[in-house]
Amino acid sequence: MKLLLLVICLLIEINYSLSVLESFVKRAKQSEFFAKLINQKHTAIVEKQRYFDHYDFIIVGSGPGGCVLANRLTENKKWNVLLIEAGKVETALQDVPVLAAYMQSTAFNWGFVSEPQAGSCFGMDENRCGFPRGKALGGTSVINYMIYNRGNKNDFDRWAAAGNYGWSWNEVLPYFLKSERSTLEGFENSPYHNRHGEMSVEYNRHRTLYSKLFVKASNHLGLREVDYNSGQQLGVSFLQANTLNGRRHSAFKAFIEPILNRPNLHVMINTRATKVLIDPSTKIAYGVELLRNRKRYRILARKEVILSAGTFMSPQILMLSGIGMKSDLNRIGVPVIQELPVGKIMYDHTTHIGVVFVANTTGESLNSDRAIQPNNVVKFLHGQGILTVPGGVEALGFIKTNINNFRGETVPDVELIFLAGGYFSDEGTGVRRGIRITDKIYNSVYKRLEDRSIDAFTVAQMLFHPKSVGYLELKSSNPFHWPKFYHNFFKNADDVETMLEGIKATLKLVNTPQFKSIGARVYSVPLPNCAHIHFGTDDYWRCSIRTLSS
Ligand SMILES: Cc1cc2nc3c(=O)[nH]c(=O)nc-3n(C[C@H](O)[C@H](O)[C@H](O)COP(=O)(O)OP(=O)(O)OC[C@H]3O[C@@H](n4cnc5c(N)ncnc54)[C@H](O)[C@@H]3O)c2cc1C
Ligand SMILES: *[C@@H]1O[C@H](CO)[C@@H](O)[C@H](O)[C@H]1NC(C)=O
Repeated sequence: MKLLLLVICLLIEINYSLSVLESFVKRAKQSEFFAKLINQKHTAIVEKQRYFDHYDFIIVGSGPGGCVLANRLTENKKWNVLLIEAGKVETALQDVPVLAAYMQSTAFNWGFVSEPQAGSCFGMDENRCGFPRGKALGGTSVINYMIYNRGNKNDFDRWAAAGNYGWSWNEVLPYFLKSERSTLEGFENSPYHNRHGEMSVEYNRHRTLYSKLFVKASNHLGLREVDYNSGQQLGVSFLQANTLNGRRHSAFKAFIEPILNRPNLHVMINTRATKVLIDPSTKIAYGVELLRNRKRYRILARKEVILSAGTFMSPQILMLSGIGMKSDLNRIGVPVIQELPVGKIMYDHTTHIGVVFVANTTGESLNSDRAIQPNNVVKFLHGQGILTVPGGVEALGFIKTNINNFRGETVPDVELIFLAGGYFSDEGTGVRRGIRITDKIYNSVYKRLEDRSIDAFTVAQMLFHPKSVGYLELKSSNPFHWPKFYHNFFKNADDVETMLEGIKATLKLVNTPQFKSIGARVYSVPLPNCAHIHFGTDDYWRCSIRTLSS
């Protein structure tokens, strides 16, 4: 650990006068040495394992899903388990929560992008949105924003009612609790939190003036403070985060690292599963085919093959294995084992990062110059300070606009995400590159906010229950060809209207005494492609939604 900190300090020293955070990432990418230094220990443990031909369970993909299952299944000493992962072991960079957005520019992101879209991603390079996914032990939990949100009680109950036995809120809650190791102050005796599980949940170690004002202002507007993981979400809250002492607590760190020495667990990294082997007559899965060091292997499963390769790659593997629509499989030349609509329903909680506020304060926003100040680095070493803030996110609001009514009064349709900075905080290198905002937009709208004498922050709107539905399809039967993603964001204009209501709710903040006290106002430099519409009108925001949502 000391070594790790030393390396970070060193990098920071070297780069002090450069665009620091960016070169952080560049270095990590270029320097195999750096990567090796950091993950050497776990990589070495994994690499000296000698694999069997048979396992009781084979788990494909080590995201949160795969890691939890590997942990729970190997509690039974009579079972042996193989966990297969295409990526490698995370490094020290992933530890630093404020760098979350940067991870999308590293080899820890698969790097998928969508197909060009008619009604959205207008502000993104080539009109294509980024579709980030983690590639590492720990999966996407190695690059994500660490926001601990279980989801909405009503959604679980709806799934159960649709015939998914065991998925009601009351049935899943014990498993959420079993996993959780909470240190949330004030919830020591809450029935909704457990202090003794594997995965750390804590409040952000650092709160800016703005996030405190955001929470108070939201209260002023009628949103009370809630524990959004208690089943009741409407309200506002500081972030509950998957960090441990201010560092990212990935699924790997929580569920695999502590049990890596179990003799009945084998882990393969840098290994690509290409197919689930299925007996065409019984339709029973009996193993997997994989590629490792350019060699093809077949490994067999006595009990089960568990496909947990994530939301984009599990469908790919299913189709490569003969499960999908006949027309799709015929097109790529894969024999059909079972016809099912794989890949046909794809949707996401699209997020508009386009409402920026400027304020009269000085030196309160998060930015890269502040992040690398030696005192902030020292604070991080003690689990404190602005480097511990997950991707700059500090607080969440869950609101129900007046145009939707999903199953009664208690289900939010928009989430407000408070960020104590924005695209400009790091000279446009992190979030902005991650979501592919064009140079034209960045330079004409946000670049001037790089001026550190201007304080600014962002409130993003995230869409729940989108009505627009997309799909993915395979280009070919080559497992190394990426799927094509047709997300259709905002194809159904109702989704734009819901987001617009989310923006209106956000704009109300400027009239609160809290926002007025710092002179906070909406940053009103228009997007070049929306400049023909009067800034601040509904139509302007509709244009912004289709431009800056990803
Ligand atoms: C940018 C971003 C931010 C996010 N922020 C949050 C957040 O703040 N809070 C939150 O709760 N959720 C967040 N999420 C979502 C969350 O990370 C995912 O829901 C979660 O990681 C899904 O877990 P999983 O196990 O299903 O799949 P994944 O985590 O995607 O893991 C799948 C794993 O399978 C591996 N794999 C894929 N194909 C193969 C193959 N052929 N062979 C071997 N291995 C393979 C992948 O490399 C990967 O490691 C975010 C997601 C993204 C992209
Ligand atoms: C903030 O600054 C603006 C522009 O200088 C000024 O008009 C306004 O009165 C200030 N507000 C507060 C609360 O300081």
